[in-house]
Amino acid sequence: MSILKLALFASLPFVALGARQRRATTDEFELFAYGPKLGGPGLFYADGYAYIGDPSLSNSSDAATVICRSSLNGAFTGSPNTTNLANSTSADWSNVTLFVPGPSNTDHRVGFLDSSNTTTSSDIITDSFFFYGSTAMVKGSDGSLETFWTGLAVGNTGVYALYWNDTSLGQVHLTMRNVGPSSPPAAVPISTVTPASRS
Ligand SMILES: *[C@@H]1O[C@H](CO)[C@@H](O)[C@H](O)[C@H]1NC(C)=O
Ligand SMILES: *[C@@H]1O[C@H](CO)[C@@H](O)[C@H](O)[C@H]1NC(C)=O
Ligand SMILES: *[C@@H]1O[C@H](CO)[C@@H](O)[C@H](O)[C@H]1NC(C)=O
Ligand SMILES: *[C@@H]1O[C@H](CO)[C@@H](O)[C@H](O)[C@H]1NC(C)=O
Ligand SMILES: *[C@@H]1O[C@H](CO)[C@@H](O)[C@H](O)[C@H]1NC(C)=O
Ligand SMILES: *[C@@H]1O[C@H](CO)[C@@H](O)[C@H](O)[C@H]1NC(C)=O
Repeated sequence: MSILKLALFASLPFVALGARQRRATTDEFELFAYGPKLGGPGLFYADGYAYIGDPSLSNSSDAATVICRSSLNGAFTGSPNTTNLANSTSADWSNVTLFVPGPSNTDHRVGFLDSSNTTTSSDIITDSFFFYGSTAMVKGSDGSLETFWTGLAVGNTGVYALYWNDTSLGQVHLTMRNVGPSSPPAAVPISTVTPASRS
């Protein structure tokens, strides 16, 4: 794992760090997943767990893209982005707290706590998230920077379930960033002007 960490670290844009730190901690952001076949679909919530992709493809009635805020204690809290939600969804959750499983947790899925189960005593990490540049990481108990996000394709739906530190089911490594995919440049119209005659 340390080799992966080093390689990732070396490729990170150092210049972006200063810019990020000047921002207010209450800034809203969304998280986007980048990986072998993933060019930046967003993080969404469904039934207390974290997924990547289009929430309208979820079978959950409360699925919605998460608008995150980071708090001073290193937690990422989220509320639903209800813009353009399909009518079938009823995202009535708010202020959920992102968690990744701790090292001894047998459930390796990434999820969210709501206020009714914040006292869950299972092995989860909710207070160590931060950005290195635009990349979301977890600060380990030994101070190391960890980015062990992985994604498991849900059938052929285009949706991925988000995992932490687990590739045993065929999960792919992901990078979670607060920068969305850049939109393609506007098409340059092909000129149909005929050159002036040189007669
Ligand atoms: C938290 O509680 C909600 C509502 O009871 C539930 O849907 C969700 O699965 C729970 N999350 C965890 C991680 O236990
Ligand atoms: C939705 O349900 C169908 C039928 O059970 C299943 O095949 C599909 O994988 C589910 N989609 C998601 C995103 O979970
Ligand atoms: C919410 O979703 C809409 C539509 O996808 C998008 O335009 C908007 O930027 C999102 N809002 C935030 C705060 O991310
Ligand atoms: C949502 O409901 C409105 C009114 O019933 C309808 O006009 C609209 O097409 C629906 N949108 C979707 C995405 O189903
Ligand atoms: C959101 O939840 C956190 C942790 O449960 C709590 O400290 C905070 O006050 C809540 N914020 C709002 C606006 O409800
Ligand atoms: C990752 O999983 C391995 C076992 O597969 C475990 O030894 C290690 O502590 C885990 N690391 C984290 C950061 O969860």
